[in-house]
Amino acid sequence: MADLFSSFKLKDISLKNRIAIPPMCQYMADDGLVNDWHKAHYATLARGGSGLVIVEATAVSPEGRITPHCLGLWNDEQAEQLREIAELIKSAGATPGIQIAHAGRKASANVPWEGDDHIPEHDSRAWQTIAPSAIEFGAELPRVPKEMSIDEIKRVQHDFVQAARRAYEAGFEWLELHFAHGYLAQSFTSSHSNLRTDEYGGSYGNRARFSRETLSAVREVWPEILPLTARFGVIEFDGNDEETLSESIQLVKEWRQLGLDMLSVSVGFTIPDTNIPWGPAFMAPIAQRVRNEAEIPVSSAWGFGTPKLADQAVRNEQLDLAMIGRAHLENPNWPYQAAKELGKDQPAWVLPAPYAHWLSRYK
Ligand code: FNR
Repeated sequence: MADLFSSFKLKDISLKNRIAIPPMCQYMADDGLVNDWHKAHYATLARGGSGLVIVEATAVSPEGRITPHCLGLWNDEQAEQLREIAELIKSAGATPGIQIAHAGRKASANVPWEGDDHIPEHDSRAWQTIAPSAIEFGAELPRVPKEMSIDEIKRVQHDFVQAARRAYEAGFEWLELHFAHGYLAQSFTSSHSNLRTDEYGGSYGNRARFSRETLSAVREVWPEILPLTARFGVIEFDGNDEETLSESIQLVKEWRQLGLDMLSVSVGFTIPDTNIPWGPAFMAPIAQRVRNEAEIPVSSAWGFGTPKLADQAVRNEQLDLAMIGRAHLENPNWPYQAAKELGKDQPAWVLPAPYAHWLSRYK
């Protein structure tokens, strides 16, 4: 039986344990470029002992950034600097992953600690947002996006492909497509945000076309031997949950046929008014259902930061990988804490030798 500290193999990549750090935006970049913040942050996280570190949502184009301070992968200079991040993660013993993203109608926002709201349109830092339909998210993101033309759809898909190619060339070994959280791909899939009447709207099959085509095109450039994963909101908690979940599972099966290797099971966040049952590990049964019905390895985040909960989710075959986010911000050596609490032999040795040696001496 696998537990949190069992290794996990996907394609040619072997993770040393089932602890993964999900993408977490730092909102610390200018012009999409890595700086000292990112280097220190990702090195610290990777040295903490998790098997996989996924670099934050990295925009495939300038207008795909959530805020002006998101990372980007739309040019070679950005890729060159991200190479250093991939190397830092790898030299610390973790697998370097990256999430590539387009924020759609949720783009052009202030960083969370400065409001998390849309930058006013007349502000020189703001830009035109784009989406499947000219429908605003609402709440703190009231800006009405421009409905994308077919040419714009093709251009964004091409941007995903280019970003995937750059991610590979920069040394990342695990790619996550951000198809979740109400950003562009998720907003194509949802009838809340997609009212198109062309082949990208209407039926669920049409609404899913954007993600299917993007995934297939990325698979062409992302090596077959490396994991291609996606994060997707399989449920909205809007009262229509059984229908959304079964459509989502159907779509995940199609993605699997197109070359998807694993799904990070998440929440839609397509509309502001929902009843999300926040609580420890609340996504575990949903992730398990996706895992069983779509027959694909899954990970999930949201409240697995207590070692026993994360371990149980793996032991109970609800998750193949447990994503541990904020608990790593609180304690970057969370895997050491987990190893101690779960009674692993020589727990300090989940950390690098210069820490582990001293932590296990003078007992
Ligand atoms: C996030 N989250 C997130 N999700 C994502 O898919 N891409 C991203 O870039 C980000 N950015 C981000 C930044 C910060 C600071 C936080 C706290 C969260 C969501 C994140 O991946 C994860 O799902 C949540 O943090 C919930 O997991 P935990 O924290 O309960 O383990």
